[in-house]
Amino acid sequence: MNPTVAVIVTIVVLLNIAALMYLLFGLRRRPGEESVTTETTGHVWDEDLRELNNPLPRWWLWLFVITTIFGLGYLVAYPGLGNYRGTLGWTSEREHAEQSAAADRLLEVTFEHYEHHSALELAANPEAVRIGRNLFVNNCAACHGSDARGAPGFPNLTDHDWLWGGTPEAIGESIAQGRTSVMPAWKQALGGDAGVEDVLRYVMSLSGRDLPAGDINSGKAKFTAICSACHGADGRGNPVLGAPNLTDQIWLNGGAVATVRETIANGRHAEMPAHLARLGKTRVDLLTAYVISLGGAQLQSQSAPTKTKQDAP
Ligand code: HEC
Ligand code: HEC
Repeated sequence: MNPTVAVIVTIVVLLNIAALMYLLFGLRRRPGEESVTTETTGHVWDEDLRELNNPLPRWWLWLFVITTIFGLGYLVAYPGLGNYRGTLGWTSEREHAEQSAAADRLLEVTFEHYEHHSALELAANPEAVRIGRNLFVNNCAACHGSDARGAPGFPNLTDHDWLWGGTPEAIGESIAQGRTSVMPAWKQALGGDAGVEDVLRYVMSLSGRDLPAGDINSGKAKFTAICSACHGADGRGNPVLGAPNLTDQIWLNGGAVATVRETIANGRHAEMPAHLARLGKTRVDLLTAYVISLGGAQLQSQSAPTKTKQDAP
């Protein structure tokens, strides 16, 4: 706090206490008058309800004095007077830090149990999957939806279609390190709207849709020249680049013709934030286990077979 402000705050606090004491004792009726009187303050309610002008009861007075002494003691022990820190050295930051450290220790005990297990092993443990689901709701649902089915621009994690690969390793990598994908804008390279329309017709034909406009042969030639570098000659995508498969009927950004046209003409950009630094390895493994438990992961094609040890109850 600014030192001047601190001094003002201190003075105001002490003046307040002094003013209350003055109110209590300075304006008090003299001792001789302390007996009960019938003098009224002149206020009358409901015709016959009068306020008597009697002094405060003694016990109430002493209670007030005790409260004031307690208050002064409190101001000595705790911060309350400007920048004065109090004799106990209490701070709200430290209290918060201590409480959250205690909560963290408690949490770590829970998570310790799941350390040193592969995501695949954890996926077979219902308790681990349950914790993974809670982590998912807190960290991932905002983008992927609470049911993990995604939304336009955010991939569905429950199906068999993976942008970056569906093995436990690839899924874990997506969660730990994040993913960034860029689909450049192609309108210019394709020679304007007509070129976009040609390629659009070819792209839609890959998933079995026939559009009336556009030259499909010219579109195919352009696709082979430009697009196949990322999406593959057959349009099935490339998990190394996060380039989507264009031959299925699953669309990351939505499958309406206008949306696909917009993607081809103006490009897209998607970003999955990295979570390893924020959540740590055990939580990432539990999240991977949860995603595996949703059923879309490619478990057969797993390169390194894991230990046969099973933790499932
Ligand atoms: C800020 C939004 C956002 C958050 C939060 C987020 N994701 Fe993602 N996630 C994305 C986007 C966008 C992609 C697609 C990235 C790309 O294509 O480059 C993605 C991709 C993925 C993929 C790869 C999907 C595939 O098809 O290969 C996985 C797995 C994934 N996210 C899991 C998670 C998990 C688990 C969490 C929570 C820890 C999470 N995401 C949090 C936006 C998010
Ligand atoms: C440099 C690599 C690259 C090239 C070249 C490329 N794309 Fe893409 N494309 C991507 C990536 C990555 C995405 C995913 C972008 C996203 O949504 O974040 C994508 C997304 C798309 C989508 C949307 C798919 C969906 O599921 O929503 C379409 C359609 C598409 N590309 C068509 C094309 C066409 C047509 C060309 C050629 C004119 C092309 N791409 C060239 C990388 C590429």
